Parts: sequence; C-alpha cells; structure tokens
Amino acid sequence: MDTFDIPPLQRAAGTVRLPGSKSISNRMLLLAALAEGVTEIHGLLDSDDTRVMLATLMSLGVRVDPCGEAAWRVCGVGGPFPVKQDELFLGNAGTAFRPLTAVLAMGGGYYKLSGVPRMHERPIGDLVDGLRQIGADVRYLGKEGFPPLGIRPAVLSLNAPIRVRGDVSSQFLTSLLMALPLAGRQAVIEVTTELISKPYIEITLKLMARFGVEVEREGWWRFRIAEGQRYRSPGVARVESDASSASYFLAAGAIGGGPVRVEGVGRSSIQGDVKFAEVLAALGAQITWGENFIEARAPASGKLRAFDLDLNHIPDAAMTLAVAALFADGPCILRNIGSWRVKETDRITAMATELRKLGAIVETGVNWMGVLPPSALTANAVISTYDDHRMAMCFSLAALAGVPVRINDPQCVAKTFPDYFACFGRITAPVIAIDGPSASGKGTVARQVAQALGYRLLDSGMLYRLTALAALRSDVTPDGEAAMAQVAASLPAEFVGERIRLDGDDVTDAIRAEVVGVGASRVAAMPVVRAALLERQRAYRQLPGLVADGRDMGSCVFPDAQVKVFLTASAEIRAERRYKQLIEKGMPANMHTLLQDLRERDARDAARAVAPLRQCADAELLDTSAMSIDQAVAAVIDLVRRKLPLQ
Ligand code: DC
Repeated sequence: MDTFDIPPLQRAAGTVRLPGSKSISNRMLLLAALAEGVTEIHGLLDSDDTRVMLATLMSLGVRVDPCGEAAWRVCGVGGPFPVKQDELFLGNAGTAFRPLTAVLAMGGGYYKLSGVPRMHERPIGDLVDGLRQIGADVRYLGKEGFPPLGIRPAVLSLNAPIRVRGDVSSQFLTSLLMALPLAGRQAVIEVTTELISKPYIEITLKLMARFGVEVEREGWWRFRIAEGQRYRSPGVARVESDASSASYFLAAGAIGGGPVRVEGVGRSSIQGDVKFAEVLAALGAQITWGENFIEARAPASGKLRAFDLDLNHIPDAAMTLAVAALFADGPCILRNIGSWRVKETDRITAMATELRKLGAIVETGVNWMGVLPPSALTANAVISTYDDHRMAMCFSLAALAGVPVRINDPQCVAKTFPDYFACFGRITAPVIAIDGPSASGKGTVARQVAQALGYRLLDSGMLYRLTALAALRSDVTPDGEAAMAQVAASLPAEFVGERIRLDGDDVTDAIRAEVVGVGASRVAAMPVVRAALLERQRAYRQLPGLVADGRDMGSCVFPDAQVKVFLTASAEIRAERRYKQLIEKGMPANMHTLLQDLRERDARDAARAVAPLRQCADAELLDTSAMSIDQAVAAVIDLVRRKLPLQ
C-alpha cells in the first residue's frame, strides 16, 4: 500500500488499548540481557525498533524466547555479551544503536555497527567522545561524528568523571548510564550543557533501579553509579503502553468530540509523554486520569485554545501538538524543539512543509515553530511522511476537520505502531447501524449499502449463527452458558471472499438453515455469549467506514454510530420473503411454520434481558413492507447523505 486515504471525519470516540512503549521495551530488553537471571517481559512492543533489538541481542549470544502474546523470556548473560565479534545492522533504530554502542564499547570485543542511510546522518559524536574518555576504542568508519562505527577491545579507566553534552540527544546520556554498571566500578558522568528531554532520563533511571542499579543524581548535571552494582533480573516486568502513541488518540478526543480513552498508561506512568495530557488540559480539553487509563474530550467551548509553550519535556508528543494547532482558536508557538532536527527526519522542516499543504501559515526557527491555523483546512492534501512514523500518525488527525487526507507511505508507522491506522479507524470510522427483526431484508440492504459506499460490512447475526452451528457440531449443550461463551470467544471462523468457513469447512449455506437460526436466537440470549462477541464485532470498525447489521448494533455494539436505521416489515411479508429465499436455494420451506417461527423468534429477541431487539430512540424507522430492496437501499443511502453530508 503506497498511500492511505482517510475520508472526511466528523467525530472520534471509543477506547483503544495501545501497544507497549518503544522507549521502555528496548531499554528493558537490553537491561534484561545484561542482568543476572531470567526476565519475563510482558506487553513488549512488536515493531521495527524492538525487532532490531531482539535480533541483535540473539546475535550477540543472548537467549530470547517467546512466552505468550507480546511476552518474551530473556536469559540474562550477567555482564558483557558472550559473542566477542559481530557485524550488526541496526536499521533506523536509534533506541538500539546508541545504547548498544556504549555496551559493546565496554564489552571487550570486535564489533561493527551500521544502519540505513538516515542512521548514518544522525550524530553520535558526543556519545563516542564520552566513551573515548574512559579509553574505549570506538572509530568512525564513515563520516567523522556519525555511524557506521567500529569497536575494538580496550583497557578502560573510570577514574575521572565522563563529560558529555546534554543538548543534542538525551539518548547519549541514557546509553552511558545503562552501560557503565558493566565496569563494576564507581562511575561519574557530568553533563556539560543543558540536558534536553529529561523525562527520558527518568525512564532510564527508573528501569535501571528496577534491575537493581541505583544512580545518585545531583540535579540534572551529575550522575554517580556506586561501585559493585550489577544488574539483577526482577523476574517479571511489564511494559507500559506507549505514551507518545497515546498522544494521537488523546488529541483525537480533544479535537473530535470524544470521549476517547487510552488504556495501558495512566496516573502512575513512568513516561514523560503522559504530560501531553496535561498540556491538552491546559488548552481546554477535558481530561480524566485513571490508574491505568487517560480519557480526553473536547473543550466545553468546542475549540482548543491557542498556545505558546516550551515543549522540551515532551519532544515526541509535541509533534502531535503541532497538528492539533490546526484546530486551535488562534496562532500557536512551539518552543525549544530543536531536537526535532536530528530525529528520523528533520522534523521541523518536514512538519512545516506538510502543515502548509493543509493551508496553515507556518514560520520556523532553529528550535521553534509558529502555526497559524487556516479558517478551513485544504481538502485532499497529499502528506509526505519522510520515513517518519510520527509524521504519518500526526497527520491522520487533520481529517477530523472534515477534509479527506492522503497519507503517503503509511507503512512507516511500523516503526512503533504497526496497527496504527486500524486503531485510528476504531475510534473515527463512520458507522451505519442497521437493526431490525429476522428476515426484514436488512442483511441484503446492508450489503448493498456497504458496496455503494465502499464500506466494510459486519453481518453480526452470522457470528451468532456460527456460534450456534459450532455448538451443534460439538458436544456443547446449548444450555451450558460458560461452554457456549467459550465457543463464541474462540470461533475458528475464516472469511474468504463471500465464503465462510468453520474449522476449515465451508458453512456459507449451512448457517442459513432454519435450525441454526433458531439456535442462534437461543445463544444470543446469553449475556456471556454477547460479551464474548463484543470486541470481535467492534474490530470491524475500520476506515473508510462500516455498515453493521443485527439487533443491537445501534444500541450496544456501536452506540455512537453516526447513522442508525431500524429496518422492519410486517411478519407476514417477512415470512414470505424468507420462504422465497429458501425455495430459491432448494431448501425445504413451509409458510405456516416459517411465520410461526418468526413470531416466536421476534418475541424471544425482544424479550431477552440483554440487548433486546427494539428501536433506539435515535434510530430512523424504515418499514420496507411496501418497498423493493432497491428502494430500501436508496432510502438508507439518502439518510446517510443527510447525516454524513461529507460523504
Ligand atoms: O440476523 P440473523 O437472522 O442472521 O440473526 C440470527 C440470530 O442472532 C437472531 O435470532 C438474533 C441473533 N442476533 C442478535 O441477537 N444480535 C445481533 N446483533 C444479530 C443477531
């Protein structure tokens, strides 16, 4: 996929569980590898950067095994790496390149470290200078001050403090801090210039402490690691969700109405970027903090306030703010963001260029940027992403102004958030909910509406039918609720084009049989089954939009659906339609029993305690008794155009 087209969006609301933090994942992997003992890391981010780190650790002789979803068991080597000679290719993963340089420089081996061309343009001189002060043998194999690097064994001396600059990248200090305990002797680091991105140093210190090494710190300029400390595994460690990734969703809530809730980060997070939520609150957004979640809603006034802020403490999330500035009520200034220039791309230039495509007037300086939002955003902007994941994620927010936006090279999000666009779709994609009784024709209407709009389709009844059929085919008695919930939660169903398979068997026709429909109506009355299928149904919500048909699409599964239709017809007409359908398929049918079954099923669907079938207050009634399918489809599309005028 070379481009990703985001349709005009009106609203963002919902809950997302975010992938693990990149900064914490890679630091934890490295510390676990250097520690004594085995560490089980849970919630590890699966992304380009962490894959680079995992592969490199294995190459250097560390045993790492998967042990469950997003979980890895790392057998620490209790000191420097056992492999003493290696050539390492580290892609564009700064969070792997810098700390590994420091650790390998102290490891007494022969190593070569290289990366993609952009990696070779990102400065590393200050870190190399720091390592040379203790006698490490680190050489530039290309341009002076930049990767690739060659490392050889050397006699190290830690008698004098190591002096390192703090104003280019805090990763240099992080790398020295993480590597120095390998010497087993006292080590002192002095930071000679104003330290940037301090919260990232806090993450480093907190994680080192969790692995048994305490660093004494005087302000932000002197750090001392006392003699004789070693890394020891804490046993089990959990990676928090990525707070920088959370910024896109919180901003979406603040811009697109909300509430949007991110799970996995909260009040007790060790990541500096959670402060982004405080900044949003200062701009008027309504923020709620939980122990393990943060939720954002738009300001009561509707618009974010214009701002002039020093954002040095949240350099990554600050990019999100640059795009949020498009939605502010006046000119905005982002200050002290000079580190942007040495990230995945020169982010100040890239951001300014792309914001201008949306109609903003942008001024930039060495370490600041001013954004004057346009009165209306330019539609159909084609956004370049510069192989920078954050550019792609930030600019998806622009579509919330109700304009279509095209994102070039969307796969670059894989660096930290491979499922970004799917998650973004889950809170922003428009949903058309079509509910109604059995055989009202809603299935056919929903399919045709989805086709006409290019949206995805969820036939939720099919999931209940599959559950009933799976139960019928196994020994599960349809009355055993817990067992039925199990069946629903682990449906071995596959969807191949128009065909549906269950456990490899084509059941496209079998699930339409009356006996399965009756069984579906029974299992659908079980609260545990409904709960087991809830997230599976919500996962269908994707850009550019979803048409969902069932009984509780508008009331329970997608209560904030932009368009809700209650589609019905008299029981007699429905029985007649079902009769014709069955005869066409060559299946046996009897009008009288069909009518009776339908009436019973209507009664059961309407009388059940959970998610009973009924028309929501905000759903539009469409009685199709006297309509053809084409007329019903036209009526729904007409409604969609009225409710979503931007389609
Ligand atoms: O729409 P259908 O006939 O394929 O649905 C089969 C059964 O599943 C129906 O009796 C009611 C139940 N169902 C439900 O309870 N909730 C839904 N969202 C969809 C179907």
